[in-house]
Amino acid sequence: LMAEKNGFDTFMLKEIHEQPRAYRDTMRGRIDEANQSVVLPGMHLTDEQARDVRHIQMVACGTAYHAALVGKTVIERLTRIPVEVDLASEYRYRMPVVPDHTLVIAVSQSGETADTLAAMKEAKERGARVMAITNVVGSSVAREAEDVLFTLAGPEIAVASTKAYTSQLIAFYLLALRMAEARGTIDKVMLVEMLALLERLPVQVEEMLQRLQPIEQLAHQITRHEHLFFIGRGLDYSVAMEASLKLKEISYIHSEAYAAGELKHGSLALIEEGTPVIALATDERLLEKTISNIKEVKARGAYVIGIALEGNMELAKTADHVIYVPHTHALLTPAVAVIPLQLLAYYTATLRGNDVDKPRNLAKSVTVE
Ligand code: G6P
Repeated sequence: LMAEKNGFDTFMLKEIHEQPRAYRDTMRGRIDEANQSVVLPGMHLTDEQARDVRHIQMVACGTAYHAALVGKTVIERLTRIPVEVDLASEYRYRMPVVPDHTLVIAVSQSGETADTLAAMKEAKERGARVMAITNVVGSSVAREAEDVLFTLAGPEIAVASTKAYTSQLIAFYLLALRMAEARGTIDKVMLVEMLALLERLPVQVEEMLQRLQPIEQLAHQITRHEHLFFIGRGLDYSVAMEASLKLKEISYIHSEAYAAGELKHGSLALIEEGTPVIALATDERLLEKTISNIKEVKARGAYVIGIALEGNMELAKTADHVIYVPHTHALLTPAVAVIPLQLLAYYTATLRGNDVDKPRNLAKSVTVE
C-alpha cells in the first residue's frame, strides 16, 4: 500500500500533490495552441446550440456543489448566461422551474451519487439538455448525460476531495471559455490572456506546494479550538465554503463559512477572544470591504489567518498571519487559493490524530438517496 501512496503518508496528501498533474491532464488536448481557442472534442453541444442556451442550472452534492458555485461565477462573468446552483437533493424535490433553452450541468467526481443522478433525471423530464462534469468514464452520471466533460484527476481514494475539486474548476474554466467563444462574449485579447494564465496554473501550484511547509506550524494555532470561521466575498466565499467543508470532514472541528459582509447580521455574536477566523481576501476589487470585515472580527478578539495575493501589503497590517498565493486572473484564483486551505485542514486533522483518509461517518460515494 505504501507504494500506492507514492511515498506520502496518506492518500489525501498524495492527491493534494497530484494537483499540478491533474490540471495539466484536464487541459490536455483541449487548448488549440495554433488558434488560441478551446476545443472540447467529447462534447456534442455545437456552437449554435451554445448560442441558444438561455439558462443554466447546476446540480451537485458536497465538494462538487462547491465547484459548481465557482462555475456559476465564471460562466456568468464570461457568457452572461444566468446560472442557478442547487444541491441535487434539494433540486429534485422543489419542483424546479426549467424554462425552454435550459442547460443543466451535473457535477460529480464519482458519477454515482444517487441524488445527483435523480436530479439529472428530473431535469430531463422537465425538458432540459443535461451535461455532466465527472471524473469517471462509464459512470452512471456520464451515461445519463447528453454531453460529458471529463475531469482527468485520476482515481481519488481519500474521502475528502482535493484534486477532483480543482479539476472540476479547470473543467469549468474550459467550458466557460468555449461557450464564451461560441457566443462572442469574450474578445480575443482576453481569451489569449486567460488561456496563458490557465496554462501557468500547474507550475504556480507546484511552486506553492514547495513552500507551504510552514502551514503545518500554523495548524497548531487551530487544533485546540472547537469552532472557527472562514470568511470571504465573491469567489473567495465559494472557496471558503469548500475550505470549511474540508476542515470539518477530517478534523471534526466545527466550522462555518460566511459571506464576509453577512457576518454582522448574526454570526459576529459568536466571535470571542481567540476564535480563529480564516479570511480569504484575494479579490482586489473587494479587498477594502473584506479588510473592514477583518477589522470587525479583530476588534472582538479573533485570531485572523489571511489569504492574500503575493505582493499584497494591506492584509498583513490587520491579520495575525498571512498566507500568500500567486497572482493569476481573478476568475482563476480559486484554483490556487484553495491549496493552502486543503493543507491546513490536512495538518490540523493529522495533529488531532485522526484517520485523514477515512473520516468517521463519511463515504467516498453516496449511492443511497
Ligand atoms: C460524498 C463524499 C464527498 C463528495 C460527495 C459528492 O459525500 O464524501 O466528498 O463531495 O459525496 O460526490 P460526487 O462523487 O458526486 O462528486
